[in-house]
Amino acid sequence: MAQNDIGIDLGTTSVIVAVEGKGIVLNEPSVVAVDTKHDKVLAVGSEAFAMVGRTPAHISAVRPLKDGVISNHVLTKEMIRRFVNRVYDSRMIKPRVAVCVPAAITGIESDAVVEAVVSAGARQVFLIDEPIAAALGSGIDITQPQGHMVIDIGGGTTDIAIISLGGKVQASSVAVAGNMLDEEILKHVRAKFNLVIGLRSAEELKKTVACCPQLAYSGQTEVKGRSLTTNLPQRQIVRTEDLYEPVMKCVEQLGEAAHQVLEKTPPELAGDIYAQGIVLTGGSAQLKGLPEYFSEKLKVNVRVSPDPVNCVAMGTARCLSMGDQLETGFCDATPRMGRR
Ligand SMILES: Nc1ncnc2c1ncn2[C@@H]1O[C@H](COP(=O)(O)OP(=O)(O)O)[C@@H](O)[C@H]1O
Ligand SMILES: [Mg+2]
Repeated sequence: MAQNDIGIDLGTTSVIVAVEGKGIVLNEPSVVAVDTKHDKVLAVGSEAFAMVGRTPAHISAVRPLKDGVISNHVLTKEMIRRFVNRVYDSRMIKPRVAVCVPAAITGIESDAVVEAVVSAGARQVFLIDEPIAAALGSGIDITQPQGHMVIDIGGGTTDIAIISLGGKVQASSVAVAGNMLDEEILKHVRAKFNLVIGLRSAEELKKTVACCPQLAYSGQTEVKGRSLTTNLPQRQIVRTEDLYEPVMKCVEQLGEAAHQVLEKTPPELAGDIYAQGIVLTGGSAQLKGLPEYFSEKLKVNVRVSPDPVNCVAMGTARCLSMGDQLETGFCDATPRMGRR
């Protein structure tokens, strides 16, 4: 049975597909390249990503899922259809597909996702909440009457949730995550060094040298950009310490949001979380010093999930074999005659 089950993490940055028993079978940027003159999708995923910023006027490379919501239904559907067809030959056995959708998407948006998955040949479609999938994929047994706290920090949003007995008890979603870090780093480098850099260079700085000051780490790297003074290309050494300000501007908002969720948590569950600690998932959980920051701020043990990037997709695939044990945040969304 499990071989026909696939899980899709529909992220704003990337789409990751997992198959129970096989692991990750697809990991592609959530980008679509469109020929606007002929109204045609040219490419999806990494092929489309390579075109970002390099396209002629009539071709645009877009991210159809922006800030955790579906900004373009038609393109999102086409992207999902192509990805599912890549991992599954639906002329053979039709798969059961679970999709993890961003917390902020509306009913109409999730209908579009379901429609896309059905048109790609799925026999049954399920929707699962991101924190539940993230917890499952991190190896947490969420079916027990015990509280767990998961903070998923992706590209567009950070989702914070307290989970117990297979359901969400408290949750919050904020639009502060990896993309905002990139933008803040870009702005800071411009102000501090009079240097204009691109978002990709800002992201590189974030991944290589940026760190929260709570971790004793110091690195440096060279970035290239355009000088605001001379208007000519310029190189600049950027050190970890140079980026404390933009990093903390974003990270403190996350700490505050997590604090507010903990404040609203019933005391028994809060006690569990103090005993068990907090798990960080998502690509941005890899920001250096983030567990140290959260531990200091919340006075709790914090660890990064063993596979922070893939755990949502893994958990999404896994949920299909444990449907009965999941109370909320998981539903059969297969369209039926006369009812949804
Ligand atoms: N080593 C790293 N350090 C900090 N941020 C990282 C690192 N690797 C990836 N990221 C960031 O993770 C984000 C993507 O996370 P992901 O969980 O894939 O997002 P989404 O669920 O929104 O698709 C991006 O902003 C990316 O820059
Ligand atoms: Mg995600």
